[in-house]
Amino acid sequence: MEMNLGTFRCGPIHPKIVSGNTAPMRMHVRHAELPPKPYEINRLTPEPAPTLSQLLTFYLEAGVDCALSEQPIDRLSDSGQGEALKAASPAAATTAARAAGPLPASVARTADPIPAPDAAIATAREAARTAASLEILRDLLEKFDGCALKSTATRLVFADGNPKARIMFVGEAPGRDEDIEGLPFVGRSGKLLDRMIASIGLDRSKVYIANVIPWRPPGNRTPTPQETQICLPFIQRQIELVDPDILVTLGNPSTQTLLSTREGIMKTRGRWFDYNTGTRVIRAIATFHPAYLLRSPSYKRLSWQDLRAIAKALEAGHSS
Ligand code: URA
Repeated sequence: MEMNLGTFRCGPIHPKIVSGNTAPMRMHVRHAELPPKPYEINRLTPEPAPTLSQLLTFYLEAGVDCALSEQPIDRLSDSGQGEALKAASPAAATTAARAAGPLPASVARTADPIPAPDAAIATAREAARTAASLEILRDLLEKFDGCALKSTATRLVFADGNPKARIMFVGEAPGRDEDIEGLPFVGRSGKLLDRMIASIGLDRSKVYIANVIPWRPPGNRTPTPQETQICLPFIQRQIELVDPDILVTLGNPSTQTLLSTREGIMKTRGRWFDYNTGTRVIRAIATFHPAYLLRSPSYKRLSWQDLRAIAKALEAGHSS
């Protein structure tokens, strides 16, 4: 049966649509000539425009949590910057964008085309290879433009702790708090990492902490495989320069990337691997990421076993 509700003409309506209730209910289908009740029309009327706060909530939930500029840019407009950004090729876009006049500093950084991943990986390898010290490596990363994450992050998050430490922890990528402070693991998961480290008698003055990716991915999204490959030569060189006795990979992405395994963290955690720094072979162990432990506290028991194994290896004075 068809219904005619004012200007809306539609087929039979499922009772749930009219009631808004998921519980089954009986609906009396009314004849077309009867005027619809106001609540029925409301159910079929497009929702009112969202408020500013609803929009912001929507953006936050979608991972859009940082502004690139104070000024909005209409990238679809027919003139100026919009046209420049619509240009077909990256090179043409850049030329047109330059002709259109200066963009705000934070946005202007994104106008230059990012090198193709292969070229960026080759540049990263070459740059990392030439870094004779951690300070030089840090400077090189500050100047490196091959990874698009740099343009959305607030700042580089290079490392924290003692560069002479015997143990080095490597996470995945900085989050919001780290992006603000410029230091790894300073947010909620960082606090838990501090407690994990303290449980084996250490603190940040006795360990070195870094991430595979040194820039925060927008909205904390997972870094792409290309982004990971582009940043990999830098963290590899960082490990070589710190030259710890023990490397601890925190969580799956860091473990799979650095220890060249495709197995998941449930299989790799607590296992010892050989890691070739390029200069010598050191011992590496995978364990759960503290952010995962915050979500799944029951795994703290296994994490404690990993920490005990790490403490034992340190006591035994492993230097391979
Ligand atoms: N998670 C990470 O992997 N690294 C950080 O620095 C913070 C959270």
